[in-house]
Amino acid sequence: MIILAIDTSCDDTSVAISDDRKILSNIFWSKIKTHSKWGGVVPSEARRQHMEYLDPAITEAMSDAGLKWSDIDSIAVTYGPGLAIALEAGINKAKELSVSMNKRLIAVNHMIGHIYSTLALDSNGTSYSGLYDFDFPLLALTISGGHTDLYLMNKHFNFEHIGETLDDAMGEAFDKVGRMLGMGFPAGAKIEAAAKLGDPDFYDFPRPLSQSSDYNWSYSGLKTAVLYQLRKETGEHVNNTELSKIKMHDRSELLSEEVIHNIAASFQEAAFDSLLIKIEKAVKFYQPKMLVIGGGVIANFSLRDVLRKKMNAINTNIFFPEPLWLCTDNAAMIAVAANYYADNNLFVEDLSKLDRVPNLRIDL
Ligand code: KG4
Ligand code: ZN
Repeated sequence: MIILAIDTSCDDTSVAISDDRKILSNIFWSKIKTHSKWGGVVPSEARRQHMEYLDPAITEAMSDAGLKWSDIDSIAVTYGPGLAIALEAGINKAKELSVSMNKRLIAVNHMIGHIYSTLALDSNGTSYSGLYDFDFPLLALTISGGHTDLYLMNKHFNFEHIGETLDDAMGEAFDKVGRMLGMGFPAGAKIEAAAKLGDPDFYDFPRPLSQSSDYNWSYSGLKTAVLYQLRKETGEHVNNTELSKIKMHDRSELLSEEVIHNIAASFQEAAFDSLLIKIEKAVKFYQPKMLVIGGGVIANFSLRDVLRKKMNAINTNIFFPEPLWLCTDNAAMIAVAANYYADNNLFVEDLSKLDRVPNLRIDL
């Protein structure tokens, strides 16, 4: 089945075309430069740019794939989770195309897309993650700017939510710490680069919830510990200001490169340790056939390394997409997931009822 997929969940406009799970084209129009000066994504700006870039991205995706409209079987679109008005831009375009081109529409959960990104194949049919089908039961981890969730899957499209962050998502913690270190937005890759130059044991940052008996995480306390350390380093007066009033502003002017590198390395180490403690515990308890991981944070090579080593040590297979573009937001993963929606006959029956769901959860 040939699917044209659209993802406008956040600030990247992405359109992809797949033939079953083979990715024939995948276009991104990234507006990160516009957002970085604000230290985050401006939803109205994201929407405006999706509306401007969607048509050219669709044209380019069709031409890259060497296809015409009569070749396309279905349209897929992300309907949540994400920024409401950004999602709406993609949904409106998908509805318009579904009517004008007479194609069936598939509404896809962005986080299911991240999990199913591990099953994407290149145009020759080679898997980008090395994985060709899920072997159940498995554990699926999503780590992105908005999510840190763990699911037990006993079959396709069966998700038992067994763990989550109780506050900040992992990527969000990277972005907030990056902001304090003057790295702009998003900061994950910049923290990774700075961490390579620093000492991960220099600061002893906390691993919140590491002793708890559940599979949950908390990243907000870690972020606050970094903030307090920065205030010490910069000589800022530490009083008992309410935490909510503490500004995450850029302190990089007052810091040496060495301090920035050590903070980045020690923060990253603590963030990864927290993740690994619960993952190892869940793997030991559930004994899954494999661990699959999707989302922007798995673009981090140091995290890939420590996870691989840990899973090797406990004889568990681990899969995540190798190319970085398949980890961060992209429409290719939406196209791949859409194949499984189609297999389950999950098409949109009434276009007028399809709406954005900004807080959409995985509970099919
Ligand atoms: O999946 P994604 O593109 O968007 C969401 O669905 O949220 O994830 C974006 C997140 C951002 O927080 C970004 O800082 C983080 O992924 N990220 C990284 C790295 N590359 C992207 N975090 C740590 N290390 C990286 N190399
Ligand atoms: Zn995402």
